[in-house]
Amino acid sequence: MCGIVGYVGPELCADLVVDGLRRLEYRGYDSAGLAVVDAEGQLLTRRAEGKLTNLVKRLVEAPIDGRTGMGHTRWATHGAPTEDNAHPHRSGSIAVVHNGIIENHVELKAELSALGHAFQSETDTEVIAHLIDHHRTARGLALSEAVRQAVLRLHGAYSIVVIDATTPNVIVGARVASPLVLGLGQGANYLASDVAAILAHTRDMVFIEDGWMATLTPDGVDVRVVATNESPRWEKTTVTWSPAMAEKGGYKHFMLKEIHEQPRAIADTLRGRVSLERRTVDLPEIPLTREDLEQLRHFYIVGCGTAWHAGLVGRYLFEDLAGLSPHVEVASELRYRNAPMDERTLVLAISQSGETADTLAALREGKRKGARIISICNVIGASIPRECEGTLYTHAGPEIGVASTKAFTTQLAAVHLLALKFGQLLGRLDDAAMEAELTALMHVPTVIEEELSKPADYLEIARAWHEAASMLYLGRGNLYPLALEGALKLKEISYIHAEGYPAGEMKHGPIALIDERLPTVVLNPRDAHFQKVRSNLAEVKARSGPVLVVATEGDTDAADLADFTLTLPAVPEHVLPLVAAVPMQLIAYTMADFKGTDVDQPRNLAKSVTVE
Ligand code: M6R
Repeated sequence: MCGIVGYVGPELCADLVVDGLRRLEYRGYDSAGLAVVDAEGQLLTRRAEGKLTNLVKRLVEAPIDGRTGMGHTRWATHGAPTEDNAHPHRSGSIAVVHNGIIENHVELKAELSALGHAFQSETDTEVIAHLIDHHRTARGLALSEAVRQAVLRLHGAYSIVVIDATTPNVIVGARVASPLVLGLGQGANYLASDVAAILAHTRDMVFIEDGWMATLTPDGVDVRVVATNESPRWEKTTVTWSPAMAEKGGYKHFMLKEIHEQPRAIADTLRGRVSLERRTVDLPEIPLTREDLEQLRHFYIVGCGTAWHAGLVGRYLFEDLAGLSPHVEVASELRYRNAPMDERTLVLAISQSGETADTLAALREGKRKGARIISICNVIGASIPRECEGTLYTHAGPEIGVASTKAFTTQLAAVHLLALKFGQLLGRLDDAAMEAELTALMHVPTVIEEELSKPADYLEIARAWHEAASMLYLGRGNLYPLALEGALKLKEISYIHAEGYPAGEMKHGPIALIDERLPTVVLNPRDAHFQKVRSNLAEVKARSGPVLVVATEGDTDAADLADFTLTLPAVPEHVLPLVAAVPMQLIAYTMADFKGTDVDQPRNLAKSVTVE
């Protein structure tokens, strides 16, 4: 987590760096800071506790500027979210910003303290500044070599950016297991945690690999492998996202904008991959053959949070369409289990950011044991796709709101395509079945467009239930993961406790909770489980529980049993989760907005969880 931005070039860069941080604030917002080397060659820093707006106020009161600079927005790991612990951290002429965790910081701090270095913060990061300063001053190394020597001593996950008052017009970055992208400009170069931070200035990016470092001047970049000091082969990638895609575009929140972008995002994810005429799915990016699939002994889907929920929906699709029954695992659990994996195993990682530490570790565990590894990811060039044999990119565009919305539905579309592809390869789907599936899938963007334009009672629901201490979400079959997703969305942005449950499990425990103070959301469209779930709904009502039913359009019976009703368009069962995602998102969004919480940057969370 944490966001970092660096610039070296001909412009005064304080505004540019702060603007980049604004686009990275989703990564953490416990504190923010800026460092520049000014025209007199002085290293100047400003830092502020809390959100970026506090730093902006500080900069208005006490401006600084320079042509070499860097900034940081923090998600606290080591040390409280105070100004003293805010980055940049300094030692002598050196300033450092850092995303990640330095695992051996205690030992390094002891060593540096013995050499006379005095520490000002409780962070792990500060040791990096002192270590570089030591190599620079005590050993007289040039900046890039001092950084390289320091990085060789670090254990953990990190991306860092370094500036040095005695070496103006240079910035140095390095990465291990935390994202760092280098932007190539005209007479200026950039470093950032994420392309969104620098898209306004360049679309030409170099994704820095683990174990690499880069030294940037206004006119050039020098990329090295830290361990050998050799220049690796690196490639420029031109990113197609436009800067406008990372703006709010008139919506009150990014989350709301991203909910409304779903028809476009799903259409983009399907585009070019489906031929209705030939009744085929074409995914050349997934290099698996019929023989590969036939000899599979184990199949795991891994992810965290919302991505895990997309995997859970995927299980129903792989079972129905391809006759494969994947284990769908929370990555932080799988990575430490002794799960059977070998060369006849397939691991599919699902991740919006492609940087989630637990998902990456679970994937690596599979790779270590010889498994084939593939992914579904939204961010081109992120760590997870870079480690995989093949990646099916969701074309959701940048997702800024911390609560995942369009990334989820595009993951559902992608996992559906993959299940169809596997079914096709394994000969499990005849033409009629394929045509029905593809027609349903291709129709989803239009259906969601209509769904989003319909009036619905979200505000009434929020007014009635925003003071609830807890809520229950029930769903069955492929809507059980949607109950989990609805509950997760509500928790993370409205701070109302919520639990998602398989509707049939309610009688085994949660029913004890039901009374007039516990609202229940019941996903009860006219699907295969309709009657059973309706009975569960009656059981809630019989115990005076307030109920919101998510029913199929035109289902007039639902209203008799419910305090509130939201409707879903009548669609084939395999695409129901896609249309059911919309009310799950809008219930949470409206509830949070009604309560006045920080919808896009909810407390304690970060968009991309790059620490364990
Ligand atoms: O980037 P990833 O998809 O790997 O992120 C996984 C989770 O951290 C993420 O889905 C998280 O649960 C969201 N905040 C949910 O809205």
